[in-house]
Amino acid sequence: MTDLHRILTFAPDVQRNLTAYVRQWFAPEDDVLRHVRQNTVAQGLPEIQIRPEEGQMLQFLTAAVGARRVLELGTLAGYSGIWLARGLPDGGTLITLEMDPKHARVARDHFALAGVADRVEVIEGVALDTLRGPLADAEPFDMVFIDADKPSYPDYLAWAVEHVRPGGMITAHNAFRSGWLVSADGDAKVQATRQMLEAMAQDDRLVSTIVPVGDGIAAAVVR
Ligand SMILES: C[S@@+](CC[C@H](N)C(=O)[O-])C[C@H]1O[C@@H](n2cnc3c(N)ncnc32)[C@H](O)[C@@H]1O
Repeated sequence: MTDLHRILTFAPDVQRNLTAYVRQWFAPEDDVLRHVRQNTVAQGLPEIQIRPEEGQMLQFLTAAVGARRVLELGTLAGYSGIWLARGLPDGGTLITLEMDPKHARVARDHFALAGVADRVEVIEGVALDTLRGPLADAEPFDMVFIDADKPSYPDYLAWAVEHVRPGGMITAHNAFRSGWLVSADGDAKVQATRQMLEAMAQDDRLVSTIVPVGDGIAAAVVR
């Protein structure tokens, strides 16, 4: 094992500095994204949005598969939605699902502020109901980002595999569950996350991995 490998693998301060480097050069927040994060707290919403480097990774993956139709599960205040919407070409659309009306309202304001309201539709309601109801026969999506309630992750994956076009991408946030993924036990959220990840890894219709950015983004390309 080389010294460099040892440092990269084990030293927490090196990991922190690498993340800071990625943020500085590849995922700098503009005034809008900074405001959205601050206003999320000011409006009394939980501060549980993705990190900037995760947003940039989603934007990268969106562009990599040439996505024009993106679906997000779990809008919160629109932070990740802005990263996704900014990865779309002209004429592209993001549909994002949110069950909390206050979150949906704040998100709509943020999408307007970011200048992407024309390409974003927020659908209010329990995500599984929306997926199995209004979106059951929707045109195939190019990209799905799963970031709502963890116990439903296996169901979300099963839906996405049937509704993403070949060559499209399925992604899911918090794959590492802050490290609990590999602990001996785990709560219902950890168990559901494991169930989804292992289904993803074993599905012959998918080519899958976990992108080790932030809290881990599970990612699968549909064959
Ligand atoms: C982790 S936050 C999403 C963060 C957002 N993707 C971001 O990074 O900016 C999860 C969101 O999903 C919503 N949510 C939780 N369970 C849901 C469900 N069953 N259906 C729809 N939305 C749900 C919550 O209200 C919350 O706003």
